[in-house]
Amino acid sequence: MKDPRLLGRAVRRIVYDPETIARRTRELGEEITKYYSDGDVVVLGLLKGSFIFLSDLVREIRRPLHVDFLVASSYGNEMVSSGTVRLLYDPETVLEGKHILLVEDIIDSGRTLSRLYDLLSARKPRSLEICALLHKHIATELKVPARFVGFDAPNEFLVGYGLDHAENFRHIPFIASLQ
Ligand code: IMP
Ligand code: MG
Repeated sequence: MKDPRLLGRAVRRIVYDPETIARRTRELGEEITKYYSDGDVVVLGLLKGSFIFLSDLVREIRRPLHVDFLVASSYGNEMVSSGTVRLLYDPETVLEGKHILLVEDIIDSGRTLSRLYDLLSARKPRSLEICALLHKHIATELKVPARFVGFDAPNEFLVGYGLDHAENFRHIPFIASLQ
């Protein structure tokens, strides 16, 4: 497929097209709306990967909410477990007593989320749930299951709709496999 956004790289196939993503995001918005019947909801996006998904998702949630973001330090794949995750940007919002919905682009090993989960739990939220657009279901380190999942993704390297490869391809409106 030739596309000027793809740096001359061929994508193997489109895994989720914009219509499929929009339809599923709408369903997730409905599920989330039903799930939170009362209380304050903070939708916390994990940057950068969740930025497009989060912006579409919050527009499908029909209840009051606040939006904030987290930037976690990236250790790369060879990261040795130190038991902690460092936040490069820490949300301004007070999380205590609130429903926190942590939004992630994709769950791979589950390492990032497990650590964030511990860190955020320590702030005594009323509830803490995970919403991931994509889940590879190969996570061995995920202590807490994601309550809301967009798609069960193939175990391939995916880009687009926020997901990057070396910071490229985040702006592509569909999700493609690079392999
Ligand atoms: P985990 O900690 O191994 O679950 O890694 C999650 C993070 O790795 C995601 O937030 C993504 O930034 C990145 N990642 C994992 N798989 C992919 C992929 O297929 N494409 C792009 N980024 C990915
Ligand atoms: Mg990345």
